[in-house]
Amino acid sequence: MFSGRKILVGVTGGIAAYKAAEVVSRLRKLNAEVRVAMTKSATEFIAPLTLQSLSTNPVYVEMFNEPKLWNVEHIALAEHIDAVVVAPATANIMTKMAIGLADDFLSTVLLATHAQIFVAPAMNHAMYHHPAIQANLAILKDRGVQIIGPATGFQACGTEGDGRMSEPVEIVESLARFFVGSDWLKGKKALVTAGGTQEPLDPVRYLGNRSSGRMGYAIAQALQEAGAETILVSAPANLATPPGVSRVSVQTALEMYEAVLARFSEVDVVVKAAAVADYRPAFQAEQKIKKDGSNLTLELIPNPDILAELGRKKTSQILIGFAAETENLLTNAQNKMIRKNVNLLVANDVTKPGAGFGSSTNIVSFLFPDGRRIDFPQMSKLEVGRHLVREIAGLLGVETKE
Ligand code: PMT
Repeated sequence: MFSGRKILVGVTGGIAAYKAAEVVSRLRKLNAEVRVAMTKSATEFIAPLTLQSLSTNPVYVEMFNEPKLWNVEHIALAEHIDAVVVAPATANIMTKMAIGLADDFLSTVLLATHAQIFVAPAMNHAMYHHPAIQANLAILKDRGVQIIGPATGFQACGTEGDGRMSEPVEIVESLARFFVGSDWLKGKKALVTAGGTQEPLDPVRYLGNRSSGRMGYAIAQALQEAGAETILVSAPANLATPPGVSRVSVQTALEMYEAVLARFSEVDVVVKAAAVADYRPAFQAEQKIKKDGSNLTLELIPNPDILAELGRKKTSQILIGFAAETENLLTNAQNKMIRKNVNLLVANDVTKPGAGFGSSTNIVSFLFPDGRRIDFPQMSKLEVGRHLVREIAGLLGVETKE
């Protein structure tokens, strides 16, 4: 199952550290190449030798060991791996990850890697529910870290509650789910648009909208994870480009139109998650518009509808559109799907809490021209992206059975 996959198991100092041995052993039995990095505290709970024997690789603990190789070890390891799982993950390591603190080998690799990170929290239930820990977990989730568990039950400190590390078998299953689909879109080229376009009025003002770019960036990440060569055409957004994705920055709808149309013939898939301004000011003042106490009327002229244009031009490309609605969600979305000739339309009611603009989650329905519809509960935008990837793979004729 994990053949050819390179996984780093990070072990931190909690009583559940002994269970890391089972995680390593299970991964090895499923043919993963396993490396282990331990914090110093973890070595108080389990001997590095145990994990070295089970992983059949040397265990990393010290940051400044006698160099064995010419390269910088933590960077080489960060680049070598496909995934990291920190199990158990203490309150301490999660706080370090949230603030970007790198003061030992494991925390440094976690900062340096572009691989998918999983954490399996393990701590006393009162610690787990502390607002600081919950806030840090929210930060990590928002950055795409996958949280496994924790489980509920008897705790080593003698109390009952949630905070126990998930069982090794569940941890390994979570990793397995991640790797399913990681090559579905190999050899395919995808283009995603994200963010809200800005239409200048004068040198200091523009007409814009509330899109943060999160939805489009998450989709680009999911496409890249699935092996697609991914281009992200992004309106201004205060977000890091997902690793491995190439970004083309634009400001206006016209610039987005040019950037997308110029690349359309080379790509297999286009996902239009951007919130594109339907209108732009007819005139852009060369100097800052001055107030003179009277009313100011702006004349707006229509922007091209990029998605509709792609719908007219498409040959073999899979075209995915979005519909951001504030009323009659399904009827309006259905109309957009037909009018813009898309293969799948993602409908979101942007008035719902936890959906639409700016939030880290979304609540969407996928609509298909054959009348099929899938309604999803609230989930992270990355999860929405992963569901979309599965449908895209299906539309491209890729076998997606697990
Ligand atoms: O960026 P976030 O903060 O994460 O928010 C996510 C989101 C709400 C922006 C996203 O989920 C979303 O709904 N994106 C589409 C927003 C939108 O412009 O919807 P629309 O219903 O107005 O447009 C329909 C479709 O046509 C969209 O795919 C849009 O990209 C496209 N369009 C619209 C106008 C235009 N001139 N050209 C276009 O291509």
